[in-house]
Amino acid sequence: MGSPKEIIFSFLYKTWFVRHHVSSTITRHTLLIRQPPSSVVFHSHLGRWRLEDHPKRMAYEARNLGIIGDRQSGQDVRTQNVVACQAVSNIVKSSLGPVGLDKMLVDDIGDVTITNDGATILKMLEVEHPAAKVLVELAEIQDREVGDGTTSVVIIAAELLKRANDLVKNKIHPTSIISGYRLAMREACRYVEEKLAMQVDKLRKESLINCAKTSMSSKLISGDSDFFANLVVDAVQAIKSTNSRGEVKYPIKSINILKAHGRSAKDSYLLKGYALNTGRAAQGMPLRVAPAKIACLDFNLQKTKMQMGVQILVTNPRELEKIRQREADVTKERIEKVLKAGANVILTTKGIDDMSLKYFVEAGAIAVRRVRKEDLRHVAKATGATLISTFADMEGEETFDPSFLGYADEVVEECIANDDVILLKGTKNTSAVSLILRGANDYMLDEMDRALHDALCIVKRTLESNMVVAGGGAVEAALSVYLEYLATTFGSREQLAIAEFAESFMIIPKVLSVNAAKDSTELVAKLRAYHHTAQMKADKQHLSNMGLDLSKGCVCNNLEAGVIEPAMSKVKIIQFATEAAITILRIDDMIKIAKDEVMSDRLEET
Ligand SMILES: Nc1ncnc2c1ncn2[C@@H]1O[C@H](COP(=O)(O)OP(=O)(O)OP(=O)(O)O)[C@@H](O)[C@H]1O
Ligand SMILES: [Mg+2]
Repeated sequence: MGSPKEIIFSFLYKTWFVRHHVSSTITRHTLLIRQPPSSVVFHSHLGRWRLEDHPKRMAYEARNLGIIGDRQSGQDVRTQNVVACQAVSNIVKSSLGPVGLDKMLVDDIGDVTITNDGATILKMLEVEHPAAKVLVELAEIQDREVGDGTTSVVIIAAELLKRANDLVKNKIHPTSIISGYRLAMREACRYVEEKLAMQVDKLRKESLINCAKTSMSSKLISGDSDFFANLVVDAVQAIKSTNSRGEVKYPIKSINILKAHGRSAKDSYLLKGYALNTGRAAQGMPLRVAPAKIACLDFNLQKTKMQMGVQILVTNPRELEKIRQREADVTKERIEKVLKAGANVILTTKGIDDMSLKYFVEAGAIAVRRVRKEDLRHVAKATGATLISTFADMEGEETFDPSFLGYADEVVEECIANDDVILLKGTKNTSAVSLILRGANDYMLDEMDRALHDALCIVKRTLESNMVVAGGGAVEAALSVYLEYLATTFGSREQLAIAEFAESFMIIPKVLSVNAAKDSTELVAKLRAYHHTAQMKADKQHLSNMGLDLSKGCVCNNLEAGVIEPAMSKVKIIQFATEAAITILRIDDMIKIAKDEVMSDRLEET
């Protein structure tokens, strides 16, 4: 059997192969990571690759506790957890950095995703091991909080764990390691913020563009990174807003990304206004209304039907006609209330029937049906509208208050890439923009979307924190040298943990250079030497920005080369990776309750 990494890839390939060549009936596959050395066990519901010969688990039933299940404790569980995290890290390792490769993931219904984004890869893998799950969840938090750096978090956390496990094997108590790691984390964050971070001039667009370029350098669109970086920076600057407390905010969610097939990636463009991917509900409606008063509804504007189960006995056929009339009138009254309040643009997440459309056409209003709820929420936020799910008020009457309406300077229908879209321009609360992406196929468009999302988040963070650090392993090497020195100043047990913490960071420059097919040993040694000089000699401080140039395979000043990242992103990477490692390291007992059928079998045995 090969290494865990090989197994994982052979598994992904097998899944793909079987789906395309053998059978299309696989339901769901899961990744089970268990006991070393044959530590990775895959199974599908077909049972094709179930490895029956893995070593017998050292678990025993926790009968003493009155629980039917498996229990593992001490070194066993620690090693098992570390191996699981290592396996997850090995999956994403080869996608780190500007020359990292992509992964092809096939899900249970055969949908293919091609991506380089760590967060997406981890989301698509159905990791079953509890410790590996912790790691995946922490990477997700990084994705939510910062938007970029998920791959780095996983790789650093797995390395921290591996080294901690070695220390435990050498009889250092996990508590000492944990306190050493915590101390080192605090020192590392402080060092990044105080010594390595550099203030950038807010108005200098160049530094923002460089941050965006570094973020997308590892993605599919790296070839056109100049073009896309400009697009991203323009988009983020366009949505700048100040809230009531005077804080400047960049709400990334007001940037709507629309994907349109055809043309090439470079034909993508930025559009002022929030674009909805649907057209007007009827041709008779105007193409443009200005100024627009927008009603955001979350219910049907169709002929109301009697509730299920309601029985009405009618003796006179005329009464029946009245019921029908009333059913139609209920919707008509609702529409009239909305129009009376002054609305001339009506957006609903549900349907509008032909009869109702007539009223909107007559009133010269634009009505749009089947708008995505998420879109509507963003529109409501941007225009100051209230998303209404019912007209009922406290008295049981149906009313529509004009204050529920949102405002935009203009709402127009435009044709973009042969599709009709509704554009809301000059929104009241926050300005909104849309990025129209063009690309050959869905895979490409989706990956472009993910790459742009990372870059948008990074630009936002740079604008908010205004501090940047050099990328390409510069921060990691500086921290490694600094913490190693710091470790020697401690005369306690924590010294060893801090030294290992320092060493763990070197995994990033190592993986970056291995992925770029360069000599990692030599490059990393050079890098450390530069940083050692920078920290030892006061007149050589500029060397602290030395990082890897992966195209030439040498060490260069990455701040000058424009490979920069927001300092906040690095600090979060350090914090989340340490948190993940500590959470997993603290576990020394794992009790797994047996599944129902296993439990009944065992009860019968006893
Ligand atoms: N031009 C470059 N030269 C050298 N290193 C670079 C360059 N561009 C990016 N890097 C480095 O690559 C790393 C980021 O790689 P990548 O974007 O693949 O992973 P991530 O940001 O950790 O995760 P993800 O983007 O998947 O969420 C950072 O350490 C960064 O410093
Ligand atoms: Mg990235």
